Amino acid sequence: MDKEMHVDFSKQQFGADFKWGVSTAAFQIEGSDNVDGKGLSIWDVFAARRGKIKKGHQPADACDFYNRFKDDIALVRELNISNFRFSLSWTRLLPEGSGSINYKGVDYYNRVIDFLLECGITPWITIYHWDLPHALELRGGWTNRDIVSWFSDYSEICAINFGDRVINWMVMNEPSVFTGAGYFLGMHAPGKKGLTNYLKAIHHSTLATVAGAQALRAQVHEANIGTTFSCTHIEPINQYQNNVLAAKRVDTLLNRTFIEPILGLGYPHSDLPVLKKIEKHMRPQDEKNMAFDFDFIGIQCYTREIVKSSIFVPYIGARIVKASKRKVPFTAMNWEVYPPSIYQMIKKFNAYKGIKKLLITENGSAFPDVIENGKVNDIDRTTYLQNHIGEVLKAKQEGFNVDGYFVWTLTDNFEWAEGFHPRFGLVYVDFNTQQRIIKQSGLWFKEFLK
Ligand code: BGC
Repeated sequence: MDKEMHVDFSKQQFGADFKWGVSTAAFQIEGSDNVDGKGLSIWDVFAARRGKIKKGHQPADACDFYNRFKDDIALVRELNISNFRFSLSWTRLLPEGSGSINYKGVDYYNRVIDFLLECGITPWITIYHWDLPHALELRGGWTNRDIVSWFSDYSEICAINFGDRVINWMVMNEPSVFTGAGYFLGMHAPGKKGLTNYLKAIHHSTLATVAGAQALRAQVHEANIGTTFSCTHIEPINQYQNNVLAAKRVDTLLNRTFIEPILGLGYPHSDLPVLKKIEKHMRPQDEKNMAFDFDFIGIQCYTREIVKSSIFVPYIGARIVKASKRKVPFTAMNWEVYPPSIYQMIKKFNAYKGIKKLLITENGSAFPDVIENGKVNDIDRTTYLQNHIGEVLKAKQEGFNVDGYFVWTLTDNFEWAEGFHPRFGLVYVDFNTQQRIIKQSGLWFKEFLK
């Protein structure tokens, strides 16, 4: 292995209980969108609309994980990764979102879980990673309060069917992203826009997170229950007061709006007044039903954002200064490479008394990989992972409670509205042939975990 591939820390320094893993999501990898009774999700419908996905990429086959899961799980084992995070496709299990169960879908996830266990890999399930049933979207999706009970019933079905073998659960993946991009900006499925949609989606996703967690707690007695949030270290462009205040509002929206109600602190509207409007959508018992005592919180951190005040952006009065405009290294997503961000986020979330344990449930990077002589020498991604893992160790050594690190992601996959172009995998995928090549970053991770 190349000299620059070595780091001056070891896996042992994280302790024997530290969880090393890799994260994936159903819609991004499975493909087989229309087989064995699966119903349509909002992402199936959104991706089929003209101009919604870059270059018109279509996710129908994705990485064909549905058919190749044994080979891909064998790769997880080969890379010495002992924890595998995946999400369940709601419409494989309940094609209409509620009502009758599709047992072919149950059977499929049973096979995935059983094979993971056979390989000695611990399964970690995410109940919801953005692929809402289209049938439920036709009834308002996340803007309809009934989603709380639809989601609770779905969570209960997941728990009943898989809870005999799966202990580790995450209820939601990044509610700030699926509500913000899907119901405010319209850039993600279902493509809705506007403040009212957004505020309703925020509140209903908070209530649903708790309802889902309660369903898991009731059904799976040994369950280790978490949920995940995206988070990003925010800094003002300079110390002028308007920019400092703008950065505070962005920090409130991106890093606090979703976790604080879950911890019983309510929505942080004193630092972001527009959140006060959520009260219109609240009912008397809601305050109580917004909080849950999670066993762990998953944080997902990729970059840092620099913020400037702007009178042109409604509600938040701030805008983000893109990395490509700032003379800093950045990834194929135009996200700055800034490893201390993950350290700052561990520190920030540790400051909440109500969080028992933190796990990094996603961290990774997309770069334009090239194959040379059958190999992908992705030095940038390898360095990115090494430096971020180094920051996690620094936080751990300073006494912050962080108990695991999951790389995003196993194989290159369907990166939502960006299509197949941004490659995040430890394993390269040729999307024409579905051939896999372990990248240098994957080989480094394997060696590190040995
Ligand atoms: C999401 C993933 C996504 C990744 C990279 C996270 O926000 O959970 O689904 O692929 O970031 O953008």
